[in-house]
Amino acid sequence: MPATVVVGTQWGDEGKGKFTDLLARDMDMVVRYQGGHNAGHTLVVEGRTFKLQLVPSGVLSPHVTPIIGNGVVVDPLVLIAEMDQLAAGGIDCGRLRVSGNAHLILPYHQALDVVTERHLGRNKLGTTKRGIGPAYADKAARVGLRVQDLLDPKIFREKLGVVLHEKNPLLAKVYNRLPFDPEAMAQQYLEECGPRLAPHIADTVGLIHDALDTGGNVLLEGAQATFLDLDHGTYPFVTSSNPVAGGACVGAGIGPRHIDRVIGVTKAYVTRVGSGPFPCELTDEIGDHLVDVGHEYGTNTKRRRRCGWLDTVMLRHAVRVNSLSDLAITKLDVLDDLDPIRVCVAYDIDGERHHSLPYHQSDIHRAVPVYEDLPGWRTDLTGVSDRSELPRQADDYLRFIEEQAGVPASLVGVGPGRDQFLTYRPAP
Ligand code: IMP
Repeated sequence: MPATVVVGTQWGDEGKGKFTDLLARDMDMVVRYQGGHNAGHTLVVEGRTFKLQLVPSGVLSPHVTPIIGNGVVVDPLVLIAEMDQLAAGGIDCGRLRVSGNAHLILPYHQALDVVTERHLGRNKLGTTKRGIGPAYADKAARVGLRVQDLLDPKIFREKLGVVLHEKNPLLAKVYNRLPFDPEAMAQQYLEECGPRLAPHIADTVGLIHDALDTGGNVLLEGAQATFLDLDHGTYPFVTSSNPVAGGACVGAGIGPRHIDRVIGVTKAYVTRVGSGPFPCELTDEIGDHLVDVGHEYGTNTKRRRRCGWLDTVMLRHAVRVNSLSDLAITKLDVLDDLDPIRVCVAYDIDGERHHSLPYHQSDIHRAVPVYEDLPGWRTDLTGVSDRSELPRQADDYLRFIEEQAGVPASLVGVGPGRDQFLTYRPAP
């Protein structure tokens, strides 16, 4: 059976978890393919709130096998804490499988993330300080430790010794921080994490292909989003992995021919956490309104998110680089009280109009949004569950987004609850 990818079309926090959870009802397997515990999914199920960072959203559906793919970076202590938290909430993590090839985030990664951000000062990236960038850097430099190394004490100690030989002087001499004791670290991780994670560590590539070959439905769950992608995002204000749909192939171990649907999760407005360009950012009372009504604070870091109007220049680019088949639009209800509702349809850069995203970062920094104003609906949408119940203006807004994006919207979210959504068009 073909696989489906869910990817964010903005700078993250589009509400991917909600739709992943919804789609998981028809899935046999849900796979995280990149990122780490920099992600944060809030799911509200039967009045209970779950905050997930590493475990795929599909864990809440008892028939789903949740997989942490090879492309993810795993802090094993965080993973264990999350599994314990889910178990305490009555959610069984016994089916969870973690790729032995996924790389580990260890304490020196987090320490380096913190000191390099401080070193950058005014130019800091605004990372989540979870050690994501340093862990992926070690992976690329081929000095990373992998999840499978937790099962081989000799290899774990050897690799840790090599890597700390380099990291300790860097931390101590360049950044004036205490060095790490390799033996104490090895002991802690091998004793606390190895045995606990052993039943979950697996050849996930094999598992995913077994599922596909036997007619199973596989959902590939992206974390972060298109414009935080290391290659396609607003570099250097990006994360260190590839959230775009192509990253799903690498991070799960499948080829593109297995994928037949790519859903772009698009918030009805745009938010961003951390530094970097944001042409449609609103620093006025409408921006404050979006923060308040949309509860736009980070799930993980509690940082206030920057908010702005929907940007269809970015959206069209996301359609291209991900080969989106359809959109899932989230948080439409957050716009209920706004009138007019503005949508950015182009950028003005030095007097020239651009309908597609300029490739040069400096142009994005200088871009002035060209807006089209649409009438608001001034109606509470949170109880709407069918397209026919939408006020005309809300329906017009959605159709306008479809026209601008060039792909249909299949699902629309109108509130945080699991059932607060409507099917706008049948799945393509
Ligand atoms: P890092 O992923 O912690 O290295 O952070 C790099 C950039 O990505 C920062 O601007 C973060 O705020 C942003 N970022 C990372 N993960 C997320 C996420 O899940 N949602 C939104 N922004 C994120």
